[in-house]
Amino acid sequence: MSTKANKKSVTLTDLKNFKETSEKFTCLTAYESTMASVISECGVDVILVGDSLGMVIQGHDSTLPVTMDQLIYHLECVVNGNKGSHIMADMPFMSYSTDDLGLENAKRLMQAGANSVKIEGGEWISKMAQVLSDRGIPVCAHMGLTPQTINRIGGHHVQGRDPSQKEKIINEAISLENAGASMLLLECVPGELAKLITEELKIPVIGIGAGVHTDGQIMVVHDLLGISCLEKPPKFVKNFMEDSSSIPEAIKNYVTDVKNRNFPSKHHTFS
Ligand code: KIV
Repeated sequence: MSTKANKKSVTLTDLKNFKETSEKFTCLTAYESTMASVISECGVDVILVGDSLGMVIQGHDSTLPVTMDQLIYHLECVVNGNKGSHIMADMPFMSYSTDDLGLENAKRLMQAGANSVKIEGGEWISKMAQVLSDRGIPVCAHMGLTPQTINRIGGHHVQGRDPSQKEKIINEAISLENAGASMLLLECVPGELAKLITEELKIPVIGIGAGVHTDGQIMVVHDLLGISCLEKPPKFVKNFMEDSSSIPEAIKNYVTDVKNRNFPSKHHTFS
């Protein structure tokens, strides 16, 4: 029997149990088979085949050019290398702009081996979250800084700092949970806001640039390895290669630091 068949895959129930037992869980992006294999063997619970591939793999300056076909190609590579992590796939820009389009594209991702899909937005994606989840597709709603709307947001700014924006994010998170979202991902929001939302929701909350209090943490694997394509990595990024002598060691240190609540530190958190 292959190692793959011997390993039990991480399920949505496992992620919910992590929340209930207050054990932190880990997520990392991957775009190809070898890295997916290393990541899952290092004990990372969730692999995201993110549309960040538009920036870190394709060299674009945003995630907008990524197509469904490209996402599926990278998803298939990751599925082939995976040794038991839960695989979440991003739905690219405009691939869920109507119910029919969203259903068809989510179907393609699930048939290619995803265990859940991720969509970006606030209140307006509630309907999509419901449509997909009613048909058995687990949805992670990505809120806060949403890179697919970077042109409207006007840059990579922390979201939810002013009271009205904060109130809006809290209400939208609640309405996404009520609509059927199975997970929430918060990007670049103040640590205190992420804490409040994590405590308020029953579904697992994953954070990036959202402080230590979310149920899980996610990083772009290139950032973890200190090979960020940006001139200056964002405040919430930690280069785990600085204290490691190999890629697997860096990934294991990330897992340990998240589990022990040593990452992200105050230094990586927006106030
Ligand atoms: O596409 C991606 O990698 C993401 C993470 C930044 C969370 O959405």
